Amino acid sequence: GKVRAPTHIISTISDDRGDEPCYAGVPMSSIIEQGYGVGDVISLLWFKRSLPRYCTKFIEICIMLCADHGPCVSGAHNTIVTARAGKDLVSSLVSGLLTIGPRFGGAIDDAARYFKDACDRNLTPYEFVEGMKKKGIRVPGIGHRIKSRDNRDKRVELLQKFARSNFPTVKYMEYAVQVESYTLSKANNLVLNVDGAIGSLFLDLLAGSGMFTKQEIDEIVQIGYLNGLFVLARSIGLIGHTFDQKRLKQPLYRHPWEDVLYTK
Ligand code: ACO
Ligand code: LMR
Repeated sequence: GKVRAPTHIISTISDDRGDEPCYAGVPMSSIIEQGYGVGDVISLLWFKRSLPRYCTKFIEICIMLCADHGPCVSGAHNTIVTARAGKDLVSSLVSGLLTIGPRFGGAIDDAARYFKDACDRNLTPYEFVEGMKKKGIRVPGIGHRIKSRDNRDKRVELLQKFARSNFPTVKYMEYAVQVESYTLSKANNLVLNVDGAIGSLFLDLLAGSGMFTKQEIDEIVQIGYLNGLFVLARSIGLIGHTFDQKRLKQPLYRHPWEDVLYTK
């Protein structure tokens, strides 16, 4: 009989062997002819299924809202310095991307993990936050450098507004809001940030859409898909910052001596 030589790679998300490439079985022509958007393409390539319109719209809103946040944040700063050092687009982009992590933009997965665990175990916000403090872990998704109780993050409000009118359930988001009420009683800047809003709302999307089994949700949270939303989104802004610096013909950046505390 036929013997199949063992393969070195297994791949399940796309196939380029036919007349046209397919994303999760959907041919490119259907993607274009049926008016799919970027949210649909992300659904196919990341989650291997078509998701309802309100889910793909939510994904697109996350991408649009996180595309940029000005030149002063870690990612843009690195990209600007790198572009001004004369480096190419890819180097400038990845230099900025490399700052995405537990403090900046990359707290979405951990926010989803901790909020899910605490909410599923019915911990009160007090028990959750004080438990984290005992372990010496900052609550992912809480806190911001410039946002505060009196200067809330518009992105968080927009995401919450969309979810409240389109999601069947916002249980995890409501839990995150209760956690925020508690952390705000401790300090003014301990708001629910955009990472925490996306992390908690994506849990609601996964649970409420009826498109994922409990096991699949656990796997998505455990592997950590959600920081991908910020990485993808912010790449748009970082590429823009690279072009901006090149267009402005900015010289090599050198940080001013006056802004460094030289001390022994
Ligand atoms: N959970 C609990 N306590 C906190 C938290 C938190 N998430 N954030 C700050 N605090 C408290 C701590 O007591 C901290 O003191 P410590 O340094 O001894 O731990 C105190 O507030 C002072 O912290 P700040 O100086 O106000 O915080 P900072 O401005 O340095 O940090 C940051 C802001 C990095 C966002 C922080 O709040 C944090 O680590 N949050 C969790 C990670 C996170 O969600 N990051 C995503 C931010 S949104 C984005 O990047 C797009
Ligand atoms: C961002 O999206 O880059 C910001 O929330 C981070 C910041 O410190 O402003």
